[in-house]
Amino acid sequence: MPVIRTLSKVAQQALLGTPGCGCQPLTVAVRSISFSPRQVTSDASFHSVSFSETDHPKVLITGGLGQLGVGLAKLLRKRFGKNNVILSDIRKPSSNVYHSGPFIYSDILDYKNLREIVVNNRITWLVHYSALLSAVGEANVALARSVNITGLHNILDIAAEHGLRLFVPSTIGAFGPTSPRNPTPDLCVQRPRTIYGVSKVHAELMGEYYHHRYGLDFRCLRYPGIISADSQPGGGTTDYAVQIFHDAIKTGKFECNLKPDTRLPMMYIDDCLRATLEVMEAPADTLSMRTYNINAMSFTPEELAQELQKQMPELEVTYDVDHVRQAIADSWPMNFDDSNARKDWGWKHDYDLPELVQTMLNYFGAETRMARAN
Ligand SMILES: NC(=O)c1ccc[n+]([C@@H]2O[C@H](COP(=O)([O-])OP(=O)(O)OC[C@H]3O[C@@H](n4cnc5c(N)ncnc54)[C@H](O)[C@@H]3O)[C@@H](O)[C@H]2O)c1
Repeated sequence: MPVIRTLSKVAQQALLGTPGCGCQPLTVAVRSISFSPRQVTSDASFHSVSFSETDHPKVLITGGLGQLGVGLAKLLRKRFGKNNVILSDIRKPSSNVYHSGPFIYSDILDYKNLREIVVNNRITWLVHYSALLSAVGEANVALARSVNITGLHNILDIAAEHGLRLFVPSTIGAFGPTSPRNPTPDLCVQRPRTIYGVSKVHAELMGEYYHHRYGLDFRCLRYPGIISADSQPGGGTTDYAVQIFHDAIKTGKFECNLKPDTRLPMMYIDDCLRATLEVMEAPADTLSMRTYNINAMSFTPEELAQELQKQMPELEVTYDVDHVRQAIADSWPMNFDDSNARKDWGWKHDYDLPELVQTMLNYFGAETRMARAN
């Protein structure tokens, strides 16, 4: 972490050079050391630096080819213009994605490459989506540690160095069996039992630390399980709630890998992406915190199946529990308390369970009709 190394060296020199030094001079000295190429004075903060630049943000999305990135790029491009939003990933984009706007290769473990992209494209907002999710992370802990923790360090340094506004999503998985589960407030015990959860608590704390210590404009939402029709989930514990629609339409049957009464917070993708844009646009002085829960609905596999069966009475649902996923789900919140997000920056979800099911079925119905017509 080159920036931290340089910073601590300069801070040490500043401290040693300060007559009668104590804690106070160190704080002043460190605040005056800028990550930014422009020399920020001791009373300036990154809020003001990045805030004026966000009038016309130039956005980079990392890990953009997963379940959420393409949809977010679409939303942000509508608002800020096609060429102002760059998707990046280590995977090859589909032809559709490639032709819908700028795409660039970026491995978040390659610090120099990341810095080059940020500098060459004059990036002002960074949305950091790259991660290994809960079930995939448990199957490959070393890689999850590297991508989710080392990768995050690169992102934090780049964002601080260049005065970027940084969004990092967290998750219901950042809580654990000792957290209050129904509802789970913003501030409570967080002792997750997965590498995914541990890495997300680390991201929340490091982001907030950089914010308080260096003025980094860090913003973080804890997403519930996200349900989408046109993008596949990437190996999380809530994936069943997307898969049930695919299987119901294709085969009329679904085998669920969680127990029927496993209650988890969930959200339709449009709500999730709108929340992300809204918290990124929120004036800094409305944010009393830097990490917020956001909530929409909370249901069990059985309740989701029943809602689907209102429209597809022939749907058969069976249960074959995956013990790794079940143990993870049993340690997660059942319901999120998101009252701070609602109070501070006006968060309000649009989709509850009936609207979610209707929207998903409309999407797949339209898709089936199109396939038949072709
Ligand atoms: N989808 C959900 O339900 C959900 C819920 C809570 C939080 N989140 C968070 O939102 C973010 C996006 O989630 P998603 O569902 O789109 O994830 P996903 O697993 O579908 O996609 C993650 C992307 O990261 C990329 N990636 C992996 N290693 C990389 C590397 N070294 N460099 C660059 N990219 C790399 C992958 O290729 C993949 O396209 C994640 O941080 C996730 O933790 C998602």
